[in-house]
Amino acid sequence: MSHISKAPLERVTIPVLQRWKVEGRRIVMTTAYDAVTARIADPVVDIILVGDSVGNVCLGFDNTLPVSVAMMNHHLEAVSRTRPRALLVADMPFLSFHLSIEKTIRNAGGFLQRGAAAVKLEGGATRIEMVRALVDCEIPVMGHLGLTPQSVNVMGGFKVQGRKADDALRLLDDAHRLQEAGCFALVLEGIPAELAARARESLTIPTIGIGAGPSCSGQVLVFHDALGLTEGHRPKFVRAYADGFQLLQEALSRWAGDVRNGAFPSPQESYRLSDELRDTIATWTPSNRS
Ligand code: KIV
Repeated sequence: MSHISKAPLERVTIPVLQRWKVEGRRIVMTTAYDAVTARIADPVVDIILVGDSVGNVCLGFDNTLPVSVAMMNHHLEAVSRTRPRALLVADMPFLSFHLSIEKTIRNAGGFLQRGAAAVKLEGGATRIEMVRALVDCEIPVMGHLGLTPQSVNVMGGFKVQGRKADDALRLLDDAHRLQEAGCFALVLEGIPAELAARARESLTIPTIGIGAGPSCSGQVLVFHDALGLTEGHRPKFVRAYADGFQLLQEALSRWAGDVRNGAFPSPQESYRLSDELRDTIATWTPSNRS
């Protein structure tokens, strides 16, 4: 019996997410960075995010700051070619929505032209002007507040946010400003559960939590974290549903062992010549070349 918890086959759009928020139905989001991860995720989740986490998860960077629009385009195109039924959201990388309204619109518009249905960007009050400009161009925007990885240098590390009164109140205020500016959903990352609960109760748009407790309208985990494919420190909000790294390495090492001991490939895994051609090549020598 299959244990695959599949999402209903309905194509996920922004109005569908709004309906689910009203119905109280929880939203499931994960990341994908290529066609393989997109094909695994699409029948299971509601939103696929081509996250700038591609930088640290797949490209070997220490954080997301080196990720460029060109890198995001490359990964988005790979995911987009699979034509997912889940809502496809592209992350705006560092410096792609800071320099001018025109550059912000061009970068985000380029993502939509490559198949994304929406973009996500990090930040609160300081980003409202850009959010409004994107929404005015019919580019749907998902906000992202709390532990925003692009602010790692300001935060002094990847630390839980909103623990002090003024930070908590600022976050609630930012959440409402983003909603008023037209965001269709918000990611809340690395904040106390009570603060996320208050945001969810007071907003009309869905909130999607990561390290923000159980009260959000939905949850997101990075694909490679959920499947145990990432090495090193694992924050406490990451529940790995497989030891993917170990599982895949063991399988690969069985193949390597079979190569080394001659068990791979078997006759069934090999192509054969006709008897006639076998005789012809058996009499061939380098000296009788025509
Ligand atoms: O880039 C990313 O993967 C993200 C999620 C953690 C929300 O922003």
